[in-house]
Amino acid sequence: MPKIIDGKTISAQIKEELKEKVAAMKKGGTSVCLAVIQVGNDPASSVYVNNKKKACAYVGIDSLSYELPENTAQEELLQLIGELNDRKDVNGILVQLPLPGHIDEDAVIRSIDPKKDVDGFHPQSVGALCIGQKGFVSCTPAGIIQLLKRSGIEIAGKECVIIGRSNIVGKPMALLLLKENGTVTVCHSKTKDLKEITRRADILVVAIGKPKMITREYVKAGAVVIDVGIHRNENNKLCGDVDYDDVAPVCSAITPVPGGVGPMTIAMLMNNCVESITLNS
Ligand code: GUN
Repeated sequence: MPKIIDGKTISAQIKEELKEKVAAMKKGGTSVCLAVIQVGNDPASSVYVNNKKKACAYVGIDSLSYELPENTAQEELLQLIGELNDRKDVNGILVQLPLPGHIDEDAVIRSIDPKKDVDGFHPQSVGALCIGQKGFVSCTPAGIIQLLKRSGIEIAGKECVIIGRSNIVGKPMALLLLKENGTVTVCHSKTKDLKEITRRADILVVAIGKPKMITREYVKAGAVVIDVGIHRNENNKLCGDVDYDDVAPVCSAITPVPGGVGPMTIAMLMNNCVESITLNS
């Protein structure tokens, strides 16, 4: 059977390391503060936002919480972000996505000071990642790199195939694997002969958003499979984009859902908040 890549344990280790760092920083008179903004009360977003605030409290990061009504005008949101950009005591700004339809998400992301862009979504952060300069990296792909490294999985020289080309996962994932000297292919909904390509992968990252789509026909024997998807199946049980029971017996390592990639996103957000101090000093 494959090695199960335990995101719960690895994310807990990262949070422990950060907790020590934050405590040492506090002794030196530096504190870290994240401002979290939620517009509307989408229940899934509320769960994510609460988990982020809880993680801050655990690690020792201060958090400011802004819960704005669904009908908040874009101008009002931009004004709040402007104020938070100017505040010396705020190191990171996170606007929970998705935003209500009347708000231009790109305009909001662009309004965040890149020095406080702990989500790594600002075009400047993405551009810096693209050309190998310092900047914040999107949390989910950054978390996947940590999962691989901390599980002793070599990336250099490996065939890495990503399914999905989103700005938040697929594209930054490709750049990070490339930075680690992987040979990278990005597949998407228009890719021909998907199985043909995914079967070449030593490391297969799946971020398609379709429950259990990836069966063993897509996977080379001995591959490492990273599942970014999270869905509820017909029995209200969580599952990923990968058909775990079908794929696990043929691969060398795999992330479970839940308990794989999911917990890493928040751990890396905490990491970015702490990095905001060094990145800006
Ligand atoms: N919505 C879903 N995932 C994320 C994330 O990583 N950051 C933000 N800001 N919103 C999200």
